[in-house]
Formats: sequence, structure tokens, C-alpha cells
Amino acid sequence: MKNGLSGFAVGGLRFCRRRHSLGIGLHSTNCRTEAPSPDPVTDFSISRRRFLGAFTAAGSLAISGDAILLEPNHPRLVRQEIFLRRLPAGFDAMTIVQLSDFHYDPYFSRQPIEAAVRMSNELSPDLAVLTGDFVTMPVVGGITARNVAQQAASCAQVLRGLQARNGIFAALGNHDEFMDARSVSGTLSEAGFQVLSNTAVALERDGQRLWLAGVRDVLRGKADLGLTLRGVPAEEPVVLLAHEPDFADTVVRYPVDLQLSGHSHGGQVCLPLVGPLYLPKMAEKYPSGLWQIGPLVLYTNVGIGTIRIPARWNCPPEVTLITLRAGVRPG
Ligand SMILES: [Fe+2]
Repeated sequence: MKNGLSGFAVGGLRFCRRRHSLGIGLHSTNCRTEAPSPDPVTDFSISRRRFLGAFTAAGSLAISGDAILLEPNHPRLVRQEIFLRRLPAGFDAMTIVQLSDFHYDPYFSRQPIEAAVRMSNELSPDLAVLTGDFVTMPVVGGITARNVAQQAASCAQVLRGLQARNGIFAALGNHDEFMDARSVSGTLSEAGFQVLSNTAVALERDGQRLWLAGVRDVLRGKADLGLTLRGVPAEEPVVLLAHEPDFADTVVRYPVDLQLSGHSHGGQVCLPLVGPLYLPKMAEKYPSGLWQIGPLVLYTNVGIGTIRIPARWNCPPEVTLITLRAGVRPG
């Protein structure tokens, strides 16, 4: 909207200058007092500029309305079928809902989180995983224990409605770690979620095992893969929750089969032909979607909430439904 209004003003300024340069007797700097111009070319220019200015302003307003009011509130369902060579047959067709980057805010993110919870429950998944950034660190102002607890509790209160047959698991993000990892983690645990902080748990089906692991935040220097995988037999498959997707370049050196990440927000605002306006550190290489990095499969979810500006454009909030498949993708 800012660009459109600015362009309109520039158009008017050019008109005044042109009349002076043509030397046709207009010496006043006040354009409003002059007589109507007899010059049809000039009249056409004014009309065209006004039209273009109004058109640009209207277009910008429409985009702003869509970006701020509509798109951020309507999650998109993304279905992914992911083949893992080491997945035991007992876990074939297991479904996982992934939600990420909630950045709880009563005005801008509560509604899309509620919508995502409803959408997830309709999918009736086996597992639900939450890949971090439940709260937001402020740009300015102090952080108090009270506002961390409030944000985390409000976010957990909405997420508490999630249902998954085999449990709901979470890993913390950079904002959670920066604010107060212990407080956020405690609140999520009280809500019934299992927080995986440099740890792994085994899921069992028909005597076979799949490990679900989670690291603490990479950007805060808290992730410890060695510690996380310490009790996991090297031959057994692992699904890892790690907030930052670009951590995959490290994870690929470990016996991990699938990494689920968020953090990027997909850029939040994605311009046609330009792409994401901004990608955070550790989400620049693998900003969204499915990636194969050596033997490791990575999926980056673009998140639900927003940060810094309450807008998403060309990048709606996402609910991912992953169906695990044993073996190699046909073809
Ligand atoms: Fe993040």
C-alpha cells in the first residue's frame, strides 16, 4: 500500500514541474489555482497517472487485505507420503500430523492455531508432532517470566485440543529456548505433550521399533545429537524433530532416517518470480517441502503463526499429514 500511495503523489508532482518547464505562463507554485489545461496530451497524462495510481493503490490494498486478514487464518493441508528404507513393516502407513511455529499471539495466531487443531483432528493421525516456536521473543522490551508463562500457557491451551492415537510429541525452537526453555517445556508437559529435549523414545508395533527423537535448539547451541541418539541401536530407524531445517547437513552424518523441521515460515511473504522475502538463519538452504540429503529425508513445514509482521502472502499456514511407507518409492 505504501508504494501505491507514493507513486500517486509522484505523478502529481511531475505535472506541476512540466507546466513550469514548458513556459506557458504558470508561475505560481500552487497547481490548484491554474486554469484548466488546453493541452489534451497533458490532460491524458493526468488521467492516466491518476488511473495508474488508483489502480496500484487498490491492488496494494487488496494484497494487504489478503496477506493480513485472510491468508494467515486459513491453514493449507499438505499430504506427504515418505518412504523410508529402514522402516519396519509394522509401521507402514503410520500417519503423523506435523504443526510448527505457532508464535502464540491472541490477535494474530490464535485463530489459525485453532483451525489447524480442527483440521488435524479430522485427519485422525497416529502421531502429532510440534516442531517448535510456541512463543515469540520480543524485538524490544524486557522478557519477564510472567509473559513467557502466559504465552506458553495460552498456546498449550489451544493445542491441548489435539488428538493423536499414539501421542503428541514436541521439540523446542529458538524462540522458546531464548525466552525460557524450562518454562515452555514445563507448560507443554503439563498439557500432556512429551517434550523431546536431546532425547529419544521408542514406539513399538508387532515387536518392531521406530524411534522418535528430538533435539534442543540448534541456534541456541543446545542441540546434542550424540546425547539424543545414545540409547538408540544404530540399526533401528529414527524420526528426528529438529526446529532448524539446515541442521540436516549435520544430521546426515548420524543414523537418522527422517528429519522434521520448521523455523523458516516459508519466508511468510513470497513474491511471484522473487520468492521468499526473508529466510532466517539455518532455514536458508532447505526453506520448505521435501528434501533428500544422502540417506536422510527432510521435511520443512512452513508453520502456522507469523513473526514481526502479522502477514502471510503466497505462503499460507500449513498442516502436514505424513504417511510413512516402508521401502523405496516405486519408480
Ligand atoms: Fe524459529
